Amino acid sequence: MAKLLVIHGPNLNMLGNREPEHYGKLSLDEINKLIIKHAKKNPTECFQSNAEHEIIDKIQTCKADYLIINPGALTHTSIAIRDALIAVKIPFYEVHLSNIYARESFRHISYLSDIATGVVSGLGHFGYLAAIDAALASQS
Ligand code: DQA
Repeated sequence: MAKLLVIHGPNLNMLGNREPEHYGKLSLDEINKLIIKHAKKNPTECFQSNAEHEIIDKIQTCKADYLIINPGALTHTSIAIRDALIAVKIPFYEVHLSNIYARESFRHISYLSDIATGVVSGLGHFGYLAAIDAALASQS
């Protein structure tokens, strides 16, 4: 068993209504239910915040074995989230619903990708499920 924490960043609480051509039609609640189901018996918490400091607090205090994080727009700006992830030394997977490399150039920069165990971008909600599979498969 592995403890998983899935973190959703700013504006991801609006999924379902928000730019469905980029982010799909499922709500965050529907995605979280699929995540929990996919994780089977592995204890899994899903957390969303629009506030950078709350995400940092969550990273600092969590007891997870693996983190799966879609930092939303903070991907492209937050050295503070990068520093928190480095500090806790918990392996993490970066997930984006959309393919950030097929979008505006400012979305091509991630402050997290080079320190992530893996990055999934453009698979919609399947990206979270793929990250769970990869995390669980990496357990020794
Ligand atoms: C996103 C991509 C980001 O550029 C954007 O700011 C988001 C969502 C994605 O899941 O595709 O909020 O992380």
